Amino acid sequence: MASSSYVLLFALLALASWQAIASDPSPLQDFCVADNSSHVPVLVNGFACKDPKDVKAEDFFLAAKLDMPRDTKANKVGSNVTLINVMRIPGLNTLGISLARIDYAPLGENPPHTHPRATEILTVLEGTLYVGFVTSNPDNKFLSKVLNKGDVFVFPEGLVHFQFNPNPYKPAVAIAALSSQNPGAITIANAVFGSKPAISDDVLAKAFQVEKKTVDWLQAQFWADNQN
Ligand SMILES: *[C@@H]1O[C@H](CO)[C@@H](O)[C@H](O)[C@H]1NC(C)=O
Ligand SMILES: *[C@@H]1O[C@H](CO)[C@@H](O)[C@H](O)[C@H]1NC(C)=O
Repeated sequence: MASSSYVLLFALLALASWQAIASDPSPLQDFCVADNSSHVPVLVNGFACKDPKDVKAEDFFLAAKLDMPRDTKANKVGSNVTLINVMRIPGLNTLGISLARIDYAPLGENPPHTHPRATEILTVLEGTLYVGFVTSNPDNKFLSKVLNKGDVFVFPEGLVHFQFNPNPYKPAVAIAALSSQNPGAITIANAVFGSKPAISDDVLAKAFQVEKKTVDWLQAQFWADNQN
């Protein structure tokens, strides 16, 4: 084989193995309960493990009261995300999964955002949700659906998505599972217009093809987080 073929083969193998680990790693032991007491200087994709003989049922438990409605009036978007990730349940460390309850006020929304590390699967417990996501460049195809109680929808990893409660009278509730112990969330408007410090309005005026005063107005708004 010519050396250039070896280079190509190596590149393909590297790409294939990278894709195989492009999510939370599969655990190589039963569990690795996050140890919050020790201060290990280097953390590779997770937290240091607690000594297995000190692990208790409580490490895998949280009295999260996910059956209780949350306050959806505390922010302007009218939604409240209660995320149960590794920061809340140390036993989730290395297991590649987390859970959220999302409450929506009438006409409330969980605004366009992405999870850099997780695919999300969501089910509606109460009410109706208009949901959708947009595929990556260059197509930017918008896929959307109206979900009723009991319906399930999937938001693929990394893609911009939202949920909106179209009912002006009734709240809505959903439960979502995410394929990471720490899915992360980037709310588009908050990241772009609410960054600290602010991105230059020259940059944003050109990017959004609007006047600088429109950007300045947007940047002056209060971009609250809807997640707890
Ligand atoms: C979510 O609701 C809880 C009470 O149920 C409230 O304490 C909290 O401030 C709300 N969070 C947001 C981000 O609106
Ligand atoms: C560790 O402790 C800090 C402070 O008490 C807390 O904020 C954090 O969520 C904890 N992390 C884990 C993985 O338990």
